[in-house]
Amino acid sequence: MKNPLCWVILTGVAFLLIQQGLPVYSQGDSQSDNKVMDNITVRQGETVLLSCSQGDVVTHSAWLNRSSIMYAGEDKWSVDPRVSLVTLNQDEFTIKIENVDMTDEGQYICAVQTRSRATTTSVHVIVQVPPKITSLSKDVVVNEGSNVSLVCSASGKPDPTVSWKIISPAAQILTSEDEFLEIPSISRQRAGTYECTAMNDVATDVQTVELTVNYAPTVSDGKDVGVTLGQQGVLQCEADAVPPADFEWYRDDRRIFNGFDGIEIEDSGALSKLTFFNVSEGDYGNYTCVAINKLGSANTSIVLFEVIEPTSSTLLQGPGAVQDGNSASRACHTSTCLLVLLALQLLLKF
Ligand SMILES: *[C@@H]1O[C@H](CO)[C@@H](O)[C@H](O)[C@H]1NC(C)=O
Ligand SMILES: *[C@@H]1O[C@H](CO)[C@@H](O)[C@H](O)[C@H]1NC(C)=O
Ligand SMILES: *[C@@H]1O[C@H](CO)[C@@H](O)[C@H](O)[C@H]1NC(C)=O
Ligand SMILES: *[C@@H]1O[C@H](CO)[C@@H](O)[C@H](O)[C@H]1NC(C)=O
Ligand SMILES: *[C@@H]1O[C@H](CO)[C@@H](O)[C@H](O)[C@H]1NC(C)=O
Ligand SMILES: *[C@@H]1O[C@H](CO)[C@@H](O)[C@H](O)[C@H]1NC(C)=O
Repeated sequence: MKNPLCWVILTGVAFLLIQQGLPVYSQGDSQSDNKVMDNITVRQGETVLLSCSQGDVVTHSAWLNRSSIMYAGEDKWSVDPRVSLVTLNQDEFTIKIENVDMTDEGQYICAVQTRSRATTTSVHVIVQVPPKITSLSKDVVVNEGSNVSLVCSASGKPDPTVSWKIISPAAQILTSEDEFLEIPSISRQRAGTYECTAMNDVATDVQTVELTVNYAPTVSDGKDVGVTLGQQGVLQCEADAVPPADFEWYRDDRRIFNGFDGIEIEDSGALSKLTFFNVSEGDYGNYTCVAINKLGSANTSIVLFEVIEPTSSTLLQGPGAVQDGNSASRACHTSTCLLVLLALQLLLKF
């Protein structure tokens, strides 16, 4: 077998027979044998080196991908530019495959021919692929009480394991060792950031989903406010709602708008403030704050009542600034106010 092409074809035929599990009988008194190397594991995109040993009596050798020849000695048969020769000498025959892809996975064979012996050494190349989340639920907005179902699927080799957990608010323990996360009848406390993790031996891919839970407003009980005539008074109303509430203010049944004489309404997030810059007699009364979003409304009432303070300035302003005892006590709602009133009347006796 001096003709290399002839040898290569014979090697191919021998290899096909080996693959089919048939015994291969070499011609004449030469022998053949079959070795298996350890599997080579390589990551997608990396370079793999395929190496087999030679000897000084070797006449021909070749590297095959499945049954097609990549290299016959120094001659490159493969048209794939990623395949190249690294070393061919008496000790070793090494080729490399760059930028390895999934399709390169499989059996590679080094066929070595001496005058009396044909040896094939096979090696299985395993290509690993880092996990990639291929499909993930979009950020979702639901109403409280809805059944929520999140899904996350990933590809990779080996098959990645997929899991879910809630990362914010952090105090919660809600996990799933699965592509699916089912939350029946969701409560507002379950709103937050959910994280999907896809993991295999190679790497980890992580993505997050925002879950918003809408609910109707609740308002904190209003605190009545006592203000001295001519002073600034502020009524505050706080609502918990998603989406954030819009506020409306009422005096009895009359709606109050921002910019009404001496009144300002200022909303910032969960809080609405009704400010009287200069409280007059007519401002004292019962106010209602209504918080509204698309899921409902809630309200609370706040009383603005009069407080008489015995400051030196009220005393110096003369009788006009100091109310007579009767009207002042009618306006007074608290016991501290009554004490102040008594002290005031004592002072006036001097
Ligand atoms: C090599 O990989 C093949 C295919 O994945 C597997 O069947 C075989 O058991 C592996 N051999 C070794 C030695 O790991
Ligand atoms: C090996 O053979 C497979 C199947 O024909 C092919 O898809 C792959 O590109 C080949 N790889 C190399 C490095 O030749
Ligand atoms: C949520 O799921 C439960 C049980 O599967 C079902 O009875 C209920 O009707 C569902 N609720 C909604 C709002 O779909
Ligand atoms: C508050 O209102 C009263 C009565 O209208 C007025 O006399 C007084 O000057 C006002 N005070 C301020 C600080 O605007
Ligand atoms: C204020 O008004 C609301 C509704 O109009 C009523 O329910 C509440 O009792 C009133 N509060 C006072 C102190 O009069
Ligand atoms: C305030 O809430 C009560 C029930 O909590 C409701 O009956 C009332 O109509 C509400 N008032 C306003 C002004 O929305």
